[in-house]
Amino acid sequence: MDRTYSVAILGATGAVGTELLALLESRNFPLSNLKLLASPRSAGTTLTFKGEALPVTATDAAAFEGVDIVLASAGGSTSKLWAPKAVEAGAVVIDNSSAFRMDPQVPLIVPEVNPEAAAQHRGIIANPNCTTILMSVAIWPLHQIQPIQRIVAATYQSASGAGARAMEEVKQQAQAILAGETPKTEAFPYPLAFNLFPHNSALTDQGYCEEELKMVNETRKIFGVPDLRVTATCVRVPVLRAHSEAINLEFAQPFSPEAAREALKQAPGVKLVEDWQANYFPMPIDASGQDDVLVGRIRQDLSHPCGLELWLCGDQIRKGAALNAVQIAELLVHKNLLKPTAAIAQ
Ligand code: A2P
Repeated sequence: MDRTYSVAILGATGAVGTELLALLESRNFPLSNLKLLASPRSAGTTLTFKGEALPVTATDAAAFEGVDIVLASAGGSTSKLWAPKAVEAGAVVIDNSSAFRMDPQVPLIVPEVNPEAAAQHRGIIANPNCTTILMSVAIWPLHQIQPIQRIVAATYQSASGAGARAMEEVKQQAQAILAGETPKTEAFPYPLAFNLFPHNSALTDQGYCEEELKMVNETRKIFGVPDLRVTATCVRVPVLRAHSEAINLEFAQPFSPEAAREALKQAPGVKLVEDWQANYFPMPIDASGQDDVLVGRIRQDLSHPCGLELWLCGDQIRKGAALNAVQIAELLVHKNLLKPTAAIAQ
């Protein structure tokens, strides 16, 4: 009989956690056991998996005993607290937070781009930032044909990136504004309904916010090009789910839109969406709930002979978070990489 695995979802009640649950079910992950972990607030509640109500329990060290894989999506501080304990208990942690992403000993993986990095894990594998995952999937196939010299990205990020509570807040704000009331802000610093604002992550001394620097640093690490020139402006927009990105790429030689289209038609995880007659291109509403990153509006950059413009939309909760994490778990299972080879090799 094929092997089955004991899996725990840390942050099971959150926006990404509930998607992880749905994906383990729909992709028929070979489970022997599934534990749903969250904060003490959720202890005693249940979530449905394959028609069965599974209990949600508060997280403690004992929860990781006998667990093979932890899919963590409960925020950075929770990951910092529990991931080392889960690894000590013998689990591999696939962490959706930013806590370990830039740690040189932690592989940062987009399975379509750098699956080989998984072999180097020492117990923790990081799932990249959502905007970085979506961009990487779309531009890596082009980078394989001609190395990218510079990336200029602008993002249009949905409320889902800030969690389930933030999505609810935008809906309530919209209702309040339509009713002539003052919208409440808790999850976000400013009203997002009928508004937008530069990404609400912390600002750094360089003038970039953390989200923008994640795109810079994580793309470099995933692509294995430490000095890749990347710049980004990240903006929160009143979309519930699915992020959009306008990306300008610069190559050493001209890269024709036709060649880019051909490459992206065959690229894993990418769907080309372009109807120039109808002016129909990727939209977050179409990307929501989909696994693929939708790419379109590929065109020559008028301002640079070696520049290429493209537009993409991708489901932040799915490929931008939960799906990528489950794909990493599938990779570990298929390549038999659950034991940390890097630690053993020492
Ligand atoms: P809970 O629902 O009990 O608060 P989101 O990103 O959608 O806001 O979800 C965050 C997830 O992380 C939720 O499942 C939340 O559980 C969980 N979480 C938050 N704080 C902790 C904690 N200290 N320990 C374990 N899980 C936590």
